[in-house]
Amino acid sequence: MLADIGCDHGFFFAAALKRGLCRSVIASDISAPSLEKARRLAEKEELTGRIEFRCCDGFVGFTPGEATGAALLGMGGELIVSILKRGKDAAQSFGRIVMQPMRGEAELRQYLYENGYAVRDEAVVFDAGRYYQLIAANYAPDEAAALPPDWPEGYYQFGPVALEKREPELLPMLNRYKAVMDRKLAAAAMNGSIPPALTREAECTKRIIGLCTARTEDSQWN
Ligand SMILES: C[S@@+](CC[C@H](N)C(=O)[O-])C[C@H]1O[C@@H](n2cnc3c(N)ncnc32)[C@H](O)[C@@H]1O
Repeated sequence: MLADIGCDHGFFFAAALKRGLCRSVIASDISAPSLEKARRLAEKEELTGRIEFRCCDGFVGFTPGEATGAALLGMGGELIVSILKRGKDAAQSFGRIVMQPMRGEAELRQYLYENGYAVRDEAVVFDAGRYYQLIAANYAPDEAAALPPDWPEGYYQFGPVALEKREPELLPMLNRYKAVMDRKLAAAAMNGSIPPALTREAECTKRIIGLCTARTEDSQWN
């Protein structure tokens, strides 16, 4: 059983059912009109019998153990964190939660690392000119790893799991991010003052690019 939280139009759960990734779905959204869109798609795709629709706030409308996996896709990282916090008991009971933040990746990853979630997998996807980070995690305080020793301390914009599995799009994403940082640094320098947070962001990105490059040289990344 998969819970698609914030399902909106329902494209994700429809694809998951059709590809056989799950047998049934609880499709939920805080917005009744969004859920109505999902209902219409399910009818059109003849999937209605395998879906329960639920209008509720995140995990608050779920009881612990009700589903094994959850997807929280296409939302801001801060919103995902607030959903995990508000429905803590149910959220902590899921075997896997797959999250795809549109922004606020650092806030989300920091919450997971500091609150007993084990990050099991990460992916970087490039689509229509934009990079997306996906994180799969579950609450498992005994198995939750800290950031690795060679990782910039307390830096969560990117993930060490993606680095360890040599995600093919990680290095291109980092290089693009570095180019943005370089432009911001140059603009700040022209204005005569570089914010320390910007310097740190640029340094951390550079360091992770170094870790990627080192692994490329001693392995078969790509
Ligand atoms: C941008 S859409 C993403 C839709 C879909 N998950 C996707 O990836 O394409 C975000 C959806 O999250 C829903 N949402 C926002 N806050 C929510 C909450 N607290 N609980 C459940 N759904 C929420 C919104 O109503 C909206 O339909």
